[in-house]
Amino acid sequence: MRKKIVAGNWKMNMDLEEGLKLAQSVKDQLKGKGKTKAEVVLCSPYIHLSSLNAVLKDSDIMFGAQNCSSEPSGAFTGEISCSMIRSTGAAYVIIGHSERRSYYKEDDQLLNKKVAAAISKGLKVIFCCGEVLKERESGKYFEVVKKQLETGLFTFSENELKNIVIAYEPVWAIGTGLTATPEQAQEMHKYIRDLLSSKYGKEVAESTPILYGGSCKASNAGELFSMPDVDGGLIGGASLKSDEFCAIAEAAN
Ligand code: PGA
Repeated sequence: MRKKIVAGNWKMNMDLEEGLKLAQSVKDQLKGKGKTKAEVVLCSPYIHLSSLNAVLKDSDIMFGAQNCSSEPSGAFTGEISCSMIRSTGAAYVIIGHSERRSYYKEDDQLLNKKVAAAISKGLKVIFCCGEVLKERESGKYFEVVKKQLETGLFTFSENELKNIVIAYEPVWAIGTGLTATPEQAQEMHKYIRDLLSSKYGKEVAESTPILYGGSCKASNAGELFSMPDVDGGLIGGASLKSDEFCAIAEAAN
């Protein structure tokens, strides 16, 4: 049985005080009582990371960054390395989010380098993939996701792949209020699992978590998470309110 994962992607929201308050209230709401069986992860802006370590230390909630440099250190003004992220106590990093791909022109080759950097420093990677609306409508969505995975991820060994969580995020569903139907999500998740299986074998395919992202909220999470190949969610907008986010985490039970 794969463990469900519910990860919040705060994006560029929350100043330091607001972010720590949000983390504290997620922690309080999910405390004890076996409220959620999912692994809960908060992916904050960099500035929160070291303080999140203190806020979350006596809980099972993990935290992570939303991006990282592909380089280990040096003259890269404004960049943050994977070892810096790891040194805050963060366990995760999101790589390849569609907003990084489209606004910052991050291509599959660069993302592949970032994943290598993250794995080498002991970070777990939430690797995002997904098609834009035009690609969905023209029926090219399998092809697009296949290429993203082959170039970005499938250069790694079976052992390295144990550090990877895949997030399928159809770009047309991100922040739009349009959610993929549970059937559309399942169809793509099954396709991704089959790709994993043909490249790495059944065991790796069965143990790699595949999350859904794109307008996932408390009212649709249960339905999405009940699909056999949907192992939880990457949650944007709905992760900024602790009631809503915790209800999503509980829907993973
Ligand atoms: P959304 O974002 O939940 O606000 O659609 C998801 C994401 O971008 O990870």
